[in-house]
Amino acid sequence: MSMLENVTQCFTEYFNQLPDFVSKAPGRVNLIGEHTDYNDGFVLPAAIDFFTLVATSARQDNLIKVIALDYAGQTDEFALSSLYEAHPTQMWSNYVRAVVCTLVDRGYQLKGCNLVVSGNVPQGAGLSSSASLEVALAQALLTVAGIQIPATELALIGQAAENNYVGCACGIMDQLVSAGGKQGHALLIDCRSLETKPILMPSQLSIVIINSGVKRGLVDSEYNLRREQCAEAAKFFNQSVLRDVTKEQFFAAADQLPELVRKRAQHVIEENERTLKAAGALATNNVALLSQLMAESHVSMRDLFEITTTEIDYLVAALDKELGSDGGVRMTGGGFGGCIVALVPQKKLSIVEPILADYQLKTGLIATPFICTPEQGASLVALES
Ligand code: GLA
Repeated sequence: MSMLENVTQCFTEYFNQLPDFVSKAPGRVNLIGEHTDYNDGFVLPAAIDFFTLVATSARQDNLIKVIALDYAGQTDEFALSSLYEAHPTQMWSNYVRAVVCTLVDRGYQLKGCNLVVSGNVPQGAGLSSSASLEVALAQALLTVAGIQIPATELALIGQAAENNYVGCACGIMDQLVSAGGKQGHALLIDCRSLETKPILMPSQLSIVIINSGVKRGLVDSEYNLRREQCAEAAKFFNQSVLRDVTKEQFFAAADQLPELVRKRAQHVIEENERTLKAAGALATNNVALLSQLMAESHVSMRDLFEITTTEIDYLVAALDKELGSDGGVRMTGGGFGGCIVALVPQKKLSIVEPILADYQLKTGLIATPFICTPEQGASLVALES
């Protein structure tokens, strides 16, 4: 049974009616531009074919009743309100509560509704399962209330829910590509203006995501620490974000910064430049340049931003060696475990399996590959009644 049939069937069994519609939002993979979003910089992610679905119908009262299919059918029920109260045991509930509070707080006139949630974005792997949940929920709640908003606003709501109530102080990348992704394309996002530019993915390259099997640890605390270090560097240059510090300004004064702050800032400033170049390389099918930029990005995450792990470095090096300049590979996402992303020519896909077998022998970890296609962002799935 497909995920869509599953949420629809469960909805019907539980609420004795068909859902009015199903809200759908994808996870994402970032091709390049890591930890640049909260520095008002550039990122180049793609929405992927892993999704969260929220089957939805209106209620006559102001209650939100929600069932989490992937958590053994756990339920939550609460009245619409802008007051956030964390659920004592169900972390997933907090995302629903956070999105509802954020919407009410922003003045949206919501209506009560019944919801059934299910998803297949691998959790804790750095593929933005939370962002896809936030975006799918926000879209469901607004649609029931007859409200339509642009993808950018949908993303800002998801980010605010995450920042203010659950999760860490993330930037806008994950929610924006989940809300506004374009099928067959990566999205160059200017995280200051929130402008997005779709870049067609070259048809001969497959996006291969490999979950390293390294559990992401210390993510929130290390993430927030990186944000503080970036802010400290920007402040040194009398700016509020590193977007406004040029490479020339940085290198002219870099030796006056504390070592760690200097390294973090160098990563961000150079990563912004790499991301813009990579978008150009992708658009012109310059795979050799893309390959080089992705390799440089990984080294920078490893040595300057210090967010990779030895296992991930090993995996990236092994793939890089086999791909040469025919494809690119780097860690993707916030870091400290999770996934790597590789752009692999279709004719070279056979290199992946032996590398993963060798990786298992060396590290004892099982790495899982997914070949992904770039998908459309959030959408509504109409149901036949
Ligand atoms: C996480 C955050 C994003 C971004 C990346 C790093 O995915 O949610 O906002 O900062 O890390 O690029």
